[in-house]
Amino acid sequence: MSNKGGLEGIVVADVQTSKVDGENGKLIYAGYSIEDLAAHSSFEEVFFLLHNTRLPNASELEEVRSQIASQAVVPDPVLDMMKVLPKSTPAMAVVRTATSMLSAYDPDAENLTDKDVARTKAIRLTGQVTTICAAWVRISKGLEPVAPRSDLGLAANFMYMMTGEEPDETASAAVDVYLVLLAEHGMNASTFASRVITATGSDMHSAVVGAIGALKGPSHGGANAEAMKMFLEIGEPENVAGWFKTNIKEGDRRIMGIGHRVYKAPDPRAAVLKEHGERLADSSGNSKWFDIAVKLEEAARADEYFIERKLFPNVDYYSAIVLYTLNLDIDMFTPLFVMSRMAGWTAHIVDQMQGRLIRPKANYIGPFDLTWKPVSER
Ligand code: ACO
Repeated sequence: MSNKGGLEGIVVADVQTSKVDGENGKLIYAGYSIEDLAAHSSFEEVFFLLHNTRLPNASELEEVRSQIASQAVVPDPVLDMMKVLPKSTPAMAVVRTATSMLSAYDPDAENLTDKDVARTKAIRLTGQVTTICAAWVRISKGLEPVAPRSDLGLAANFMYMMTGEEPDETASAAVDVYLVLLAEHGMNASTFASRVITATGSDMHSAVVGAIGALKGPSHGGANAEAMKMFLEIGEPENVAGWFKTNIKEGDRRIMGIGHRVYKAPDPRAAVLKEHGERLADSSGNSKWFDIAVKLEEAARADEYFIERKLFPNVDYYSAIVLYTLNLDIDMFTPLFVMSRMAGWTAHIVDQMQGRLIRPKANYIGPFDLTWKPVSER
């Protein structure tokens, strides 16, 4: 077997949830283009689509929305645990820990065989993870968490629980588009992690916790926060050229939010987020961060190194601008990714239940025939 590392190009499952066409820069969820879904769908509609491989009718859509909202309540002991964590704990570590603790209060946590029960659990977990994310924004600032409302969609509920105020429609709509765009993406690292865990016969909470851990890394979902830190470091649009020269051309840094294992053409999600980022920047009256991102993208796109390697902005690049312009803490960027990807992860987990153990091989390259010696002789 050729060993490019990172399982590049290896197909590990037949799926009906999404197709990432990296050569042509296209993404579909169960047959629908991401552009179409971003323009017309809500997160709940996409959640239903990924779990059922068809769009819901009006009553099914209202049912899934209301189920996610009404089951989003997080048991008090989990919120109490979050209150005793150091306020400096990274939000992703909090979300990972609290999600794990949810299993102790979930009556279906150890039901590992019934797919209908698993779908209900997926709905509950998706709502609860959102509540955990919003609660941490408040708890980390010394404020009391706000309980979810059963009349709201997930994006608006998040904004409501985070601020404690009636959610702003424009902001909720922007978060909803973000949630639609990031809900699912083929056999990405965190989804693969969740499938590996599920294939051992383990439970959904464990699989989601493993996926959260995988998403946290800066090569995966953690890149949205790193991209924003990079834009802040650049500071002004006129600093882009100098920053690019010093840090990328002469230094050994990577542009966070650029490059992708599968896309060798522009990531279609980045184009949608760029449009939203521009609109939000204009309406906020501060387009500085958007301008920096555009200038840096232009510098990369004009550079032979990036052209040869087909490196383009990925989903995290402009989502950093969108989330920052919505006044979200940078530490919360990747947790928002979690809220969205819960739809894809849980659809994959249900699909993988009772599937065959995922167990590749390692190629041993160490020595043979060594003779053990007592420690005193080493
Ligand atoms: N900036 C500069 N150079 C880059 C970048 C970048 N952002 N990304 C890749 N390259 C270069 C590499 O140095 C390498 O060059 P080489 O051939 O001379 O050695 C070449 O492009 C291929 O890079 P790999 O790391 O081998 O590609 P891989 O598929 O393993 O990695 C990854 C993909 C991790 C996304 C990479 O592009 C990266 O680190 N990007 C920045 C982090 C990021 O944005 N991650 C989010 C990905 S999207 C998501 O998970 C939601």
